[in-house]
Amino acid sequence: MKSIINYAHRGASGYCPENTMAAFEKSLELGATGIETDVQMTKDGQLVLIHDENLKRTTGYDGQIKDVTYDEIKTLDAGSWYGEQFANEHVPLLSELLNWIAPTEMTLNIEIKNNIEPYIGIEQKLVDAIHEYGLADRVVISSFDHYTLETCKQLAPDIQTGILYVENLVRPWNYANSIGATALHSHYATVIAEAVQQAQQAGVIYNVWTVNDPAMMRKLIEMEVGGIITDYPDILAQLLRDKII
Ligand code: G3P
Ligand code: MG
Repeated sequence: MKSIINYAHRGASGYCPENTMAAFEKSLELGATGIETDVQMTKDGQLVLIHDENLKRTTGYDGQIKDVTYDEIKTLDAGSWYGEQFANEHVPLLSELLNWIAPTEMTLNIEIKNNIEPYIGIEQKLVDAIHEYGLADRVVISSFDHYTLETCKQLAPDIQTGILYVENLVRPWNYANSIGATALHSHYATVIAEAVQQAQQAGVIYNVWTVNDPAMMRKLIEMEVGGIITDYPDILAQLLRDKII
């Protein structure tokens, strides 16, 4: 059986505050083979890992990332909202994750959150950072903004891109091929086995998000999707081991 990438969604966010170094480190400990994370850009052009465009939910500070410098953001507590034991966690720079992941064997799915705030120039900064850490062959860049993916592909043909979508699209592998994307990142509710096979026959990897139900994980393992994005990489790792045995 081919190996299915076990992507920890925002790190091991079922156990740690999402998109923190604690969540990333925990995911490796729990058997994840990849990490999914979200990237946005600060007022002073730094790339940071955070899901929301506003800092309030995960740090308590009510400010849009685009309006705040990283010097201000780095002082914020990004862990207490989840649990007091995580009070020392901060909003990481992309470079912190790249530096940590480089010596591991993990792969990385970096989602550009460019569909609400148009972060001008984020694509160039991201591909430059990936090249700086020598990670081009271990990264897929994903986004709901497909123009952003096209730009990334033009800037860095050596880095894979994956199309994020929610709708039940017809033959999306043709669309993926037309914009040079290597993967589909499909919502689990729309996945059908035949489409997974057809995509993969067309040379397009079929990844699925965000899957926390073990029964759904089992179905996707049977379908031999390319990767599964989950908050609980330990549950998925166990199911993948059971399948091999
Ligand atoms: O990449 C899959 C998933 O992360 C997309 O949705 O909102 O969790 O970033 P969201
Ligand atoms: Mg995401």
